[in-house]
Amino acid sequence: MTDRYAVFGNPIAHSKSPLIHRLFAAQTGEALTYEALLAPLDDFPAFARAFFAEGLGANVTVPFKEEAFRLADALTERARRAGAVNTLKKQADGRLLGDNTDGAGLVRDLTVNAGLSLRGQRILLLGAGGAVRGVLEPLLAEQPAELVIANRTVEKAEALARLFADLGPVAASGFDWIDAPVDLIINGTSASLAGERPPIAASLIQPGHTICYDMMYAKTPTAFNHWAAEQGAARTLDGLGMLVEQAAEAFYLWRGVRPDSAPVLAELRRQLAEG
Ligand SMILES: NC(=O)c1ccc[n+]([C@@H]2O[C@H](COP(=O)([O-])OP(=O)(O)OC[C@H]3O[C@@H](n4cnc5c(N)ncnc54)[C@H](OP(=O)(O)O)[C@@H]3O)[C@@H](O)[C@H]2O)c1
Repeated sequence: MTDRYAVFGNPIAHSKSPLIHRLFAAQTGEALTYEALLAPLDDFPAFARAFFAEGLGANVTVPFKEEAFRLADALTERARRAGAVNTLKKQADGRLLGDNTDGAGLVRDLTVNAGLSLRGQRILLLGAGGAVRGVLEPLLAEQPAELVIANRTVEKAEALARLFADLGPVAASGFDWIDAPVDLIINGTSASLAGERPPIAASLIQPGHTICYDMMYAKTPTAFNHWAAEQGAARTLDGLGMLVEQAAEAFYLWRGVRPDSAPVLAELRRQLAEG
């Protein structure tokens, strides 16, 4: 029987994960199937356990990442820190290992694909939801000079800053508490989904220097990236690379083979432009 993998979500029809993993499998010659599965909102654990009677691995997306965290029999350190699991792997003894590859995907997109060094940088991270929590450990591991989490609901940023304080120089802020230029701004809010942007000061962007990254991606620049370009950001980057890189990290965990993400990212970019 062919090795079986899937992504669990609800809704799931929009997922690009099957395309990404099938391209990885074709490229590396790994024999596997990968499908998108609509998991029920009211009984995720039973659904996931039934899949793993045969299945070897799964990605987990909205809204099941916290449930997958609770389901896993063992956790990687980065998943434990994230409080959420986006990748499950059935181990030889049948137990489920929970991992979170979102943060590694973001860091790889920034450092390898965009060629940035994060060491010693002043980073502003916007948002304090699941996506931001998931990237804090890998970002702090890059040893920035400072990492400020700014959120609409400041208490959530403060809670995250406390939770990760042992890993590096992390602080919390409201959107309008800060105005001194930073090196890198990462938008991890879902404001772009509504065509909005977090109301931060334009002076945070030093023209020709500050790099802006939106975890969201779309056919045309997101509201945040559009605004950042208008303020003179040196570069604006979107989250399509993060999506492909978190998948590559999951593929590596499952198969022990690291796919070449560049041609897969190029294909997704081509399809996004056409779509
Ligand atoms: N590229 C990738 O691979 C990847 C992976 C994961 C996530 N993402 C993206 O990351 C984004 C966040 O996802 P999530 O799972 O963290 O969502 P979430 O847990 O629902 O958190 C949403 C965050 O956005 C803030 N927010 C929402 N609307 C806002 C607005 N109009 N103005 C300012 N702040 C606003 C919320 O602030 P409050 O706390 O004040 O409500 C909260 O901090 C989504 O756009 C998602 O698509 C991308």
